Amino acid sequence: LSEETSSLLSAYDWLTKYYYHLLKYSEEGKIGLDYFTKRGIKEETIDQFQLGFAPTNSEFTMEFLKKKGFHQQLLVKAGLFAARSNDEYVDVFRGRVTFPIKNHLGRTVAFGGRAFQGEEPKYLNSPEHELFQKGNLLFNFNLAKNHIRKENEVIIFEGYMDVLAAYQAGIKNTVATLGTALSSNQAKLLKRYIDTVILCYDADNAGINASYQAANLLQQIGCEVRIAHVQENMDPDDYIKTFGSEQFKQQVISVSDTFFKFYMKYKKRDYNLSVDSERIAYIETIVQQLASIESTIEREYYVKEIADEFNLSTDIIHHDIEKYKKRNN
Ligand code: CTP
Ligand code: MN
Ligand code: MN
Ligand code: MN
Ligand code: MN
Repeated sequence: LSEETSSLLSAYDWLTKYYYHLLKYSEEGKIGLDYFTKRGIKEETIDQFQLGFAPTNSEFTMEFLKKKGFHQQLLVKAGLFAARSNDEYVDVFRGRVTFPIKNHLGRTVAFGGRAFQGEEPKYLNSPEHELFQKGNLLFNFNLAKNHIRKENEVIIFEGYMDVLAAYQAGIKNTVATLGTALSSNQAKLLKRYIDTVILCYDADNAGINASYQAANLLQQIGCEVRIAHVQENMDPDDYIKTFGSEQFKQQVISVSDTFFKFYMKYKKRDYNLSVDSERIAYIETIVQQLASIESTIEREYYVKEIADEFNLSTDIIHHDIEKYKKRNN
């Protein structure tokens, strides 16, 4: 590491402790602590994740870091401070609760900051820099990786709060993307650890579309993908808090869809199945996808399902599968 790089890591380190300390012990940080408490976050979780609070007055933070020997220039370069006017710099996360984003070795390389009094945007992330590229990092991977290995399975969420809720419910093999689509580097990283990836995104349109993109990507690199669904208009955090961890495991995770099942549901949204031509087009799309399933047993299983649902003979479906397979080769 260059001198500047290790200095940057050290600044992130100090700031992690500073925000955390203010959340837990300062007068000003009480509103942040109340916010987390109201959302059901326990003290042990705050400690484990080093959640924090960034004071409204940026000067405190700047003074603190200057006393530790950091130059303003470095702090700006590291994305911790932003120029507001010529010679005024502000703490990017001021007035927000903070989530340290740690690399795989557990070093903080960025923060996520959440507004909690309705300010926009709801979440802010540190800008990317030398040691922080969103597409190369997964939130909580540092704590989750041993659990992921042990269970040979990982659950991917959209948000920090989903990871925290699962953690508190005793589910520790979870990570979150950082407000962006799953990247191929993130997918490859997970593939090195496990075979099965469970996507558990928010139950809204954005979440469903993101699941589809991520599932495709994971499937292409040879992961076994399953797609879990929480109740409409909820996210996993809401679900776990409303129904508890047992129900989450039994009625969301255990019954998650295979990629193909999800694909059938997903594609249905594009067709009006009460119109013959669209119904036919839908079946053709599905059978084409069916041809790419490698497992004969799985393929046969869905052949029957489609045959039943659309009152077709399985022979016809097999015939078309062979046709598509030839085309694919
Ligand atoms: N996100 C972001 N910027 C935003 C909104 C979201 O970076 N303006 C990222 C955050 O990492 C967030 C994730 O996308 O955790 C999922 O977004 P969303 O579902 O809206 O947030 P939740 O995690 O559900 O947050 P909360 O429950 O606190 O509202
Ligand atoms: Mn969302
Ligand atoms: Mn949302
Ligand atoms: Mn959400
Ligand atoms: Mn949420």
